[in-house]
Amino acid sequence: MIIRISDDAAALACGADPVAAAFEKAGATIERVSSWGMHWLEPLVEIDGHGFGPTTAADVPAILQGRADALSIGLIADHPFIASQRRLTFARAGRTRPLSLDDYAATGGWKGLERAHAIGAEAVLDAVTASGLRGRGGAGFPAGIKWRTVANTPADRRYIVCNADEGDSGTFADRMLMEGDPFCLIEGMAIAAHAAGAGSGYIYVRSEYPHAIAKLTAAIEASRAIVAPFVLHVREGAGAYVCGEETSLLNSVEGKRGEVRAKPPLPAIEGLFGKPTIVNNVLTLAAVPFILAEGATAYVDHGVGRSRGTMPIQLAGNIRHAGLYETAFGVTLGELVNDIGGGTASGRPIKAVQVGGPLGAYIPPSAFHLPFDYEAFAGADALIGHGGIVVFDDSADMLAQARFAMDFCAVESCGKCTPCRLGAVRGRETLDRIRSGGRLADVVEALPQMHNATAAGRVRADEVALLTDLCETMQYGSLCALGGFTPYPVMSALRHWPEDFGLPAVEDAGQGRVAQGV
Ligand SMILES: Cc1cc2nc3c(=O)[nH]c(=O)nc-3n(C[C@H](O)[C@H](O)[C@H](O)COP(=O)(O)O)c2cc1C
Ligand code: SF4
Repeated sequence: MIIRISDDAAALACGADPVAAAFEKAGATIERVSSWGMHWLEPLVEIDGHGFGPTTAADVPAILQGRADALSIGLIADHPFIASQRRLTFARAGRTRPLSLDDYAATGGWKGLERAHAIGAEAVLDAVTASGLRGRGGAGFPAGIKWRTVANTPADRRYIVCNADEGDSGTFADRMLMEGDPFCLIEGMAIAAHAAGAGSGYIYVRSEYPHAIAKLTAAIEASRAIVAPFVLHVREGAGAYVCGEETSLLNSVEGKRGEVRAKPPLPAIEGLFGKPTIVNNVLTLAAVPFILAEGATAYVDHGVGRSRGTMPIQLAGNIRHAGLYETAFGVTLGELVNDIGGGTASGRPIKAVQVGGPLGAYIPPSAFHLPFDYEAFAGADALIGHGGIVVFDDSADMLAQARFAMDFCAVESCGKCTPCRLGAVRGRETLDRIRSGGRLADVVEALPQMHNATAAGRVRADEVALLTDLCETMQYGSLCALGGFTPYPVMSALRHWPEDFGLPAVEDAGQGRVAQGV
């Protein structure tokens, strides 16, 4: 009997190693596999396709003796969380040993690269363009256009850079892919290199991901001959959110300070070491082997409008079924959070979800009809970003969340432009004054003839007007999206939860209750 247990960092954090050790001590044969992505069930034990979870070492005798019905989830592949997904990028999740070349080849690995070599660079560019694949790192830029720009820019050298900085809150899909299916990313990068005429590439992995770095390093070594003459290197991130911004990342790979570069020139024209460079997210590159192996149509057939293919969505925060859920674009936010995610882990009502990382808008349940689709989100002043959904129950304090956004921006700013560097600090101060009354005490003292409540309302309205003005300056005056998008969480919190800011709410036909005039 073979017992399969994941060695993904989330499984390890939940105690997978002691469970595996207990099985080994009992004489069982252990296979360490990638994670299925059902994090609330980790450590998940698999025996002949049947799952048991979440387990502890103390459960091992009962599982081995067939007395663990309470932990049984039946056949893992039939579990609704797995069966209802459309796994294209994460097709191997839970099914293969991450560093086994045999497992990779047996599940269709290298088929995409072989086809890329057979059809030639120009046809690869056509296939990626026809697939409708857009960057999964945040901006949603079409991959085919970026790749073609690099391929067509005259140069003696070109590079492929994988952005694996994964700084967004509540996101872990890049990490899971790198730890669970590293050859898939390597194959995607080799296909990109073939299409663009690049000789070498770098994977920039955040320093907080030691397991991913170890797996990638071993996988690169194991597949060196297969992807030759393409040569790959791993670079450990510098530990700053802004190092995920592509130009800042390129500076960091070059050994410089992680400061944003002004665009133009685009990295596709002048990127790493001044050469044309494809910078793509892990999920973008990992989607490519499927597109080449199965054809662009097999990918473009999924999704809605201009959001084609599938998106690995990460359910996190206060949610019952936290984990990775890959599905075609178009599913509604409410379906994801309530039906698939099972609502809050605390059992309390949902107050807000933040989609797209720390710079994403807070969305109230009244907007849960919103489909997961780049354009629909942009139309609602929100972001899909890297597909991370963080859930908050009704105990969340939205003014504190707005302050956190400003604080995050102040701490993580690269300092190059004033709206972000100073604006975030002033924003934090303004929110503190809204919270505490701040200057209110002075005003009330100076205006004894005025009723306190009126004075309080007036001062708070002044501070809110200042905050709104400041957010506009940051949004339109910042050099990159760190400063430019910080207003999204701040203004969405203010708009939808005015009571948390001490403001009255009004009814809005489209949005439910919102702040007056915001
Ligand atoms: C402040 C900031 C942080 C970012 N962090 C990441 C990140 O961690 N991972 C990522 O892939 N893209 C990140 N991006 C987006 C990248 O700049 C870039 O758009 C992306 O790597 C391009 O790849 P894609 O087209 O495959 O999405 C960030 C952007 C900004 C402004
Ligand atoms: S917006 Fe902030 S992070 Fe971006 S360039 Fe300006 S100072 Fe740097």
